[in-house]
Amino acid sequence: MSRNIKKIAVLTSGGDAPGMNAALRAVLRAGVYYGKEVIGVYRGYEGLIEGDMKAMDARSVANIINRGGTILKTTRSKGFLTADGRKQAFDNLKKNEVDALIVIGGDGTFRGATVFENEFDFPIIGLPGTIDNDLSGTDFTIGFDTACNTVIHAVDAIRDTASSHNRIFFIEVMGRDCGFIALRSGIAAGVELIVIPEHHTNMEELIKSLSKEGRNKRSSALVVVAEGGKFGNAADIAKQVKVAYPDYDTKVTVLGHIQRGGSPSCTDREIASRMGVAAVEGFLQNKSGVMAGIINSKIVYTPFSDIVNTPKPIDLDIFRINEILSV
Ligand code: F6P
Repeated sequence: MSRNIKKIAVLTSGGDAPGMNAALRAVLRAGVYYGKEVIGVYRGYEGLIEGDMKAMDARSVANIINRGGTILKTTRSKGFLTADGRKQAFDNLKKNEVDALIVIGGDGTFRGATVFENEFDFPIIGLPGTIDNDLSGTDFTIGFDTACNTVIHAVDAIRDTASSHNRIFFIEVMGRDCGFIALRSGIAAGVELIVIPEHHTNMEELIKSLSKEGRNKRSSALVVVAEGGKFGNAADIAKQVKVAYPDYDTKVTVLGHIQRGGSPSCTDREIASRMGVAAVEGFLQNKSGVMAGIINSKIVYTPFSDIVNTPKPIDLDIFRINEILSV
């Protein structure tokens, strides 16, 4: 059945990601372009439950394409996990005469949206906004490229000091239980080793490859470790290496939340702009329950059920490439 959508609400949810503002701007501008009213919901699903929303116009999103974070603010809502919370959210949408909802967020956001769409048959389109890149249905999530750029700049700086002191650095990066950030930034920063949850790192081999012979005359080494791996965090791995080579000068750097902030990269601004327009155009094509992503440079709409049930494959061939490059 074709729906007559006049008013669209938009929210950002879960961990913030650089480029969320660019996506919001695109949603607003596309909404206005197509003659829709757009209302911004503050603090993600939490704000939806509390009715914390405000009408926005094309000028409300001026000068934000370059800003990290999200001007709408965000939360990891516990209330939206409950049936009561979701009912309250639905009532608030109805009270504000909202006909459709755009959610920008990661895995948890899509799980919430899936349940909500099924419960209330309410039109929703999602945009992938997370630095983790762990959503299928898109090559890149909004924020991933900027986070990888932040990591490589940090690793470049660490390289200077690591090589000056002949030290072995273990650099921990984010990604929740996925290694996309570690893998891409590791190869781009030219590190010796990358440890990610999806790849069964053999600790013995890792230790062996850091031996003097294994390092092939290198005086220092850089190891990027994704959080969430079965060998523990960067500090745990560094400890094991230190036990094997007590004379090594090992150091650990946890990059943490700097990976979430900063001005979005060109790629993130571009994909966020395209996806934001695609979200609004999706409603014009009567779509709902789908995420607007980009695969092979083309906009693709993927059902929420595929997004939440299909883990995104990771390209382990990068390990072979890195082995060649670490000769
Ligand atoms: O999902 C984005 C992310 O930054 C993950 O990489 C990380 O594990 C998590 O969020 C940290 O969450 P919080 O900021 O709530 O501690």
